[in-house]
Amino acid sequence: MKIFVTPDVDRVTAQYLLRRWPQLRVLGLATGRTPEGLYGWLVQYFYEGRLSFADKRTFNLDEYYALPPNHPGSYRATMVRLLMQYVDLPPDRFHVPPGLTEDVEAACRNYEAQIRAAGGVDLWILGIGQDGHIAFNEPGSPPDSRTRLIRLEESTRRANADFFGGDPQQVPTHAITVGIGTILEARELILLAKGSAKAEILEAAVCGPETAQVPASFLRRHPRCRLILDPEAAGRLLRRLENGAVNGHPLQKVHDGAEIG
Ligand code: PGA
Repeated sequence: MKIFVTPDVDRVTAQYLLRRWPQLRVLGLATGRTPEGLYGWLVQYFYEGRLSFADKRTFNLDEYYALPPNHPGSYRATMVRLLMQYVDLPPDRFHVPPGLTEDVEAACRNYEAQIRAAGGVDLWILGIGQDGHIAFNEPGSPPDSRTRLIRLEESTRRANADFFGGDPQQVPTHAITVGIGTILEARELILLAKGSAKAEILEAAVCGPETAQVPASFLRRHPRCRLILDPEAAGRLLRRLENGAVNGHPLQKVHDGAEIG
């Protein structure tokens, strides 16, 4: 795992993706507040003619369960609002787990099959919840978990209440999420985090035991995983920095328009 700390997570990540763009055929995407600025950059690069989605395919990590796809709080609607309405991704190559389905298990198996049929995900963008979840893999999720229905923690529903009129009770109780195993199979991972509220869980994920209680700790098993963090999110890791590394993972501060490697 390589850790990068920058005040400009969005731009640094967007520039990295731009450089890798020709090699990226299947992109994994995340929702939440964290990647919104990154998607803004991708839209700008698209308008500037610096990248196209015409030959890409995308898979999102998760979707609220029992929420119609056109509900403004749904992750499908969110991705359309932030990114897909602007870029040239063919609509049939934009995949989000179904929020409304009669046969959940079949829908989950089908999502995994679609990822496999696409040749797997080249690079997945991830966020992290304050409880250590990645996608909606809440604490207790094993490293070999696959796409499935999951009950959301109350803390997760509170954290996402803004998207449902500020009322946690309006946030769905369940979601369909890809599993940790699904995520670890991607060829490359980038986890983004911003703000001091993420500092403690990042310390646990990077320095604590690898445990299902902190699902993000399993990212350490991946051979090509980058964390791109702002200084607030990295606060506790920076305090543990020794000889340019934290718990054996190299940490680099990225300043003034520099790019990450
Ligand atoms: P956030 O969510 O980007 O809104 O903080 C991250 C997550 O819950 O994975």
